[in-house]
Amino acid sequence: MAKPVLIANWKMNKTQADVYDFFDAMKSFSGWDEIAEWVICPPSLYLNSCFEPCGLFNISLGGQDVSAYEEGAYTGDVSATMLHNLGCTFVIIGHSERRHYVGESTELCMEKIQQALRVELTPVYCIGESFEQRQEGRWKQCLLEQLSPLLSMPEKSVGKCMIAYEPVWAIGTGQAATLQQIEEVHAFIRSLINESHQTLAKTTKILYGGSVKPESARALFAAQGVDGFLIGGASLEVDSFYNIGVACSHSC
Ligand code: PGA
Repeated sequence: MAKPVLIANWKMNKTQADVYDFFDAMKSFSGWDEIAEWVICPPSLYLNSCFEPCGLFNISLGGQDVSAYEEGAYTGDVSATMLHNLGCTFVIIGHSERRHYVGESTELCMEKIQQALRVELTPVYCIGESFEQRQEGRWKQCLLEQLSPLLSMPEKSVGKCMIAYEPVWAIGTGQAATLQQIEEVHAFIRSLINESHQTLAKTTKILYGGSVKPESARALFAAQGVDGFLIGGASLEVDSFYNIGVACSHSC
């Protein structure tokens, strides 16, 4: 069985000192490499300081966002080239917090994906329905709208992306989606991929995100079609991040 992909999304948390403490604490846990394919996405200001310790543990580095532009007068933006130069190999794109707080559209996300692919960063494209959309039975329509523009890209581009299904109502709430909901959605996503790029339907990595904890990880990883997790709160402490990996390795 393939190792799970476990991506830490630290969001806007930690001081520089906390970052050093995190990597120090990692030394108390062994076998990182065997357990999972780990990725850490710190705030961009800390990327430089994370590169070396990540390398020691064979952990990949990722950005939490990327500019839709290549370079120039875009105050505050971080370009794909900059992420690449700092050693990133992944980048999260379209996280619901960016869609909701900053108003990012799916169209903008596609431009960001193009930028990421230009420098060979793996885009982790986040999709997910709101609570209302789930309540009103409109989750398929929402996911279709978020996914279709990606799936209309050529196979060689889509094949370089990972997809993270993150229902908005499960993020940071302590209330993860149920096994049944996750399996249904992941199967739906794979069926959409199958319609446009048959060869990618089985191989595309689809992660789940939303209140994944060490206690729930084992059961969630057993869900059909789940290749790993995008983890917020539980990735901030080394022991819970590590124990999510351990739980996955005990999952059948
Ligand atoms: P959470 O966040 O694990 O704290 O729910 C997940 C995410 O937003 O990626």
